[in-house]
Amino acid sequence: MKGLVFALIFSVSAVADEPGLQRQQELKNMLAQDCGACHGLTLKGGLGPSLLTDALLNKSDEFLVQTILEGRKGTAMPPWKPFITEQEAFWLVQKLLKQQ
Ligand code: HEC
Repeated sequence: MKGLVFALIFSVSAVADEPGLQRQQELKNMLAQDCGACHGLTLKGGLGPSLLTDALLNKSDEFLVQTILEGRKGTAMPPWKPFITEQEAFWLVQKLLKQQ
């Protein structure tokens, strides 16, 4: 029960915190162009691994958000913290987890 209440509060606040429509478009462009430069234009993988939903489903949201914000030391994955907020990284992860 406690978990359910938490999940409800969490999902409501996640919706309330969505970036504005214009910022969403900017983030989508960034995903295709900047992230796509390494992860492939269709995000199937290139220099970086696939970011398609199947490849990410078994990883925690928190771990993925952290990877985007901080990058991964010793790999080509750069930190995006200077460019996007934690909310925006969370939004991107939700988007990656719901691709068709
Ligand atoms: C310069 C190349 C490069 C760019 C640009 C880049 N990445 Fe990465 N990314 C990588 C590499 C390489 C890895 C794998 C790191 C490792 O070996 O653990 C990675 C890993 C990841 C992972 C973890 C995947 C997993 O299966 O654990 C996520 C999520 C991710 N990147 C998202 C992004 C997003 C979102 C962007 C754009 C904002 C981005 N990356 C831009 C190179 C890049």
